Amino acid sequence: MDGTSKTIVVGVDGSEPSLAALRWALDEARLREARVVAVYVWLFPSLAARHGEIPPLGFEGLRRSAEELLDEALEAVADSAEGVEVERVVAEGAPPERLVAVADGAELLVLGSRGLGGFAGLLLGSVSQQCAHHARCPVVIVHYGERSGGGASAGGSSA
Ligand SMILES: Nc1ncnc2c1ncn2[C@@H]1O[C@H](COP(=O)(O)OP(=O)(O)O)[C@@H](O)[C@H]1O
Ligand SMILES: [Mg+2]
Repeated sequence: MDGTSKTIVVGVDGSEPSLAALRWALDEARLREARVVAVYVWLFPSLAARHGEIPPLGFEGLRRSAEELLDEALEAVADSAEGVEVERVVAEGAPPERLVAVADGAELLVLGSRGLGGFAGLLLGSVSQQCAHHARCPVVIVHYGERSGGGASAGGSSA
């Protein structure tokens, strides 16, 4: 392992709150001289929500769609990514379980306060809640949309 070995893992599901979490993770990684691993865990229901119907794609097509979602998210925050090494990980399965596994040994697991929600959210349950309970590293929940301007603030209480 060369270069920096410190890793900040961030869960990205394409939602605005998850983009806020990604930005926060990138800023924190710059301060800590860590790299960022951006993870999207895909499951059939979450991709069905993205396509508005059950997608007419095979496993490979679904995986590619998941990679596209992650690419689009990273493009959306490109201005925050300068100087930070970013790795993309697309995993299939139960989001909390996969996120906790990828974050094993990481400095931090960063998540948004809300996600895609809706029907897919109901099927998957609360990802952030499960991760907060089961992660083996510190977990940061980046709050989103609670201030005027739609900005993000980190931490459990905001002035
Ligand atoms: N499939 C996923 N892959 C990666 N990260 C996810 C996934 N789903 C949720 N997350 C992370 O968890 C955060 C909270 O989402 P979640 O707990 O699912 O809330 P909601 O119930 O509003 O969808 C998201 O902002 C994101 O950081
Ligand atoms: Mg969700």
